[in-house]
Amino acid sequence: RSTLSSSSAASDVYKRQDITRENKQSSTIWGGRFNSKPSAIMEEINSSISFDKRLFHEDIIASIAHAQMLAKQNIISKGEGLKIIKGLKRIYKEIEKGKFNFKTELEDIHMNVESRLKEIIGDTAGKLHTARSRNDQVSTDLRLWVRNAISILDKELKELQKRLIVLAERNTSTIMPGFTHLQNAQPITFGHHLLAYVEMFGRDRSRLLDCSKRLNINPLGSAALAGTAFPIDRQSTTKELNFTAPTTNSIDAVSDRDFVMEFLSISAITSIHISRLSEEIVIWCSDQFNFIKLSDKFSTGSSIMPQKRNPDAAELARGKSGRIIGSLMSILVVLKGLPLSYSKDLQEDKEGLFDSFDSLYICIKACIGMISDVTINKEKMLEASKQGHTTATDLADWLVKELKIPFRKSHEISGRIVKLAEKNNCLLHELPLDSFKSIEKKINNNVFKVLSVENSVKSKTSYGGTSPKEVLKQIKNARRRFLK
Ligand code: ARG
Repeated sequence: RSTLSSSSAASDVYKRQDITRENKQSSTIWGGRFNSKPSAIMEEINSSISFDKRLFHEDIIASIAHAQMLAKQNIISKGEGLKIIKGLKRIYKEIEKGKFNFKTELEDIHMNVESRLKEIIGDTAGKLHTARSRNDQVSTDLRLWVRNAISILDKELKELQKRLIVLAERNTSTIMPGFTHLQNAQPITFGHHLLAYVEMFGRDRSRLLDCSKRLNINPLGSAALAGTAFPIDRQSTTKELNFTAPTTNSIDAVSDRDFVMEFLSISAITSIHISRLSEEIVIWCSDQFNFIKLSDKFSTGSSIMPQKRNPDAAELARGKSGRIIGSLMSILVVLKGLPLSYSKDLQEDKEGLFDSFDSLYICIKACIGMISDVTINKEKMLEASKQGHTTATDLADWLVKELKIPFRKSHEISGRIVKLAEKNNCLLHELPLDSFKSIEKKINNNVFKVLSVENSVKSKTSYGGTSPKEVLKQIKNARRRFLK
């Protein structure tokens, strides 16, 4: 069967369902003013329960806080409040145990919970939605969810930083080529290179923290868009749900998804950092580089080539940044041009959000795994660091310091010496002194001290530089800044 004919079979199913539905009174929660049930297609495009059931925890704790407040304010009786809360707790357990029957026709998590509450406690359930709308409800749930997602990501990023720092500590004097344009540039220490990623993830964490502070305000009580005429106490739900304050404009509160845009922007940036690290892992374990070896736990074989060890985890961590960036684009476009206040377009905020979180989470975990048991090929790194005349800059610096030659001039002299070494097919330190003298007669034997990669890295003692001593200092610093 072709895809085409099976999809037309699917539309036949919709037709059949729609015929049997005709003239049946609507049973939806909002069905009062309708004569018939929605079409099966209407139901399917409208329903979000398949993905927003993930908000059940947030939905139920927010409902409990709301019910408590309603009772405290005498908007419902104390007894009704207790009954509602007891019912909600039971629903929570049912969902946790996988015993809850989610129904597409009940649209979303909010109506699935409320409808079940009615089955359990009867008509009192109908009082829970007093002074509230799904519009402030979903915004509250989603803020709580993102707040939790941020704390999970922060913890994992911190763990990744820790593993990078531990590896850096073991490699403060491991020498490798540092690259610009992916061409050998100057010798650096591997520990120093790893600390660059510690910085990136540190910035990601501070962006997450910042986003978490800004999103942590309480929309509950904004109702549909206008606020409510019931004497609610917004401070009490704010306190109960650990928000810092109630939102101050009910129209903004129900239509604002800035926190989703922000979270996805940060996720995209973080995923790009993950992707750059992954790309380097892929390069480093290629046969051409052979700088590192991933453990068997983080390598995969080929179905045809028996010798292969592939860095699939790194490739996927690199690849998954695509869908995270995609989700960011998607929410930006959903919100662009959307009039105030709530429109159903906003329901499109969730799938990309959830998928991005899941993707980022597994990518960070994979990086933690790869970094934790990677083998470093120090000899190969050292050997590679000598290729490409990586100490030519040290030579130019020496000419400035020892012979008082202006840098521009010393750069040219150094370049001519490199050309000579290339012609003789040797490295800079392998040239005889006479060759140096043939280009600049004042050069003396001391020059050889700065031509070794070991002395080159040792000399880079500027703050934040690559010398083993400085790297050790920055490791201590990083522990204090990020791991305490
Ligand atoms: N499922 C909806 C969403 O995610 C909840 C809000 C529905 N509001 C409404 N006015 N229909 O956005």
